[in-house]
Amino acid sequence: MVLRSLYISICLIFISACTSASNEIKSGPPETPEVLGENLFIMNCAACHGDDGKLGASGAKDLTKSRLKDHEIMKILKEGKNSMPSMKANLETKKNMDLVIAHIKKLRH
Ligand code: HEC
Repeated sequence: MVLRSLYISICLIFISACTSASNEIKSGPPETPEVLGENLFIMNCAACHGDDGKLGASGAKDLTKSRLKDHEIMKILKEGKNSMPSMKANLETKKNMDLVIAHIKKLRH
């Protein structure tokens, strides 16, 4: 009888350990601003600019060589330029635009 309740409590510990572990997986690692900026870039920009900013598809500029200031980049994101469409609908908020701008400036060299 003692053994049996011991067995049951061990099982319960296992079950609770497993459920809390799967909760962690569901919520995922905390998203840092850097990760958010990179994800936004990959989702909305990489098709033309490439993951590393160098692709240049459909006439896109090489972002590693770009030296535009933040407000100039912001204007392009909002209004688009030539074959680059406005990214306003994709990025939605100024905060997201700031995150993407911070990310593309890190691609520069
Ligand atoms: C449909 C393709 C396309 C997508 C998607 C796209 N771009 Fe562009 N991008 C271009 C093209 C083409 C140009 C060149 C515009 C020009 O000057 O003629 C450009 C230019 C730029 C420039 C100016 C670089 C310079 O120095 O002149 C920046 C900055 C830029 N894109 C950032 C982004 C960011 C950030 C995203 C995503 C939020 C993005 N682009 C999405 C095609 C694209």
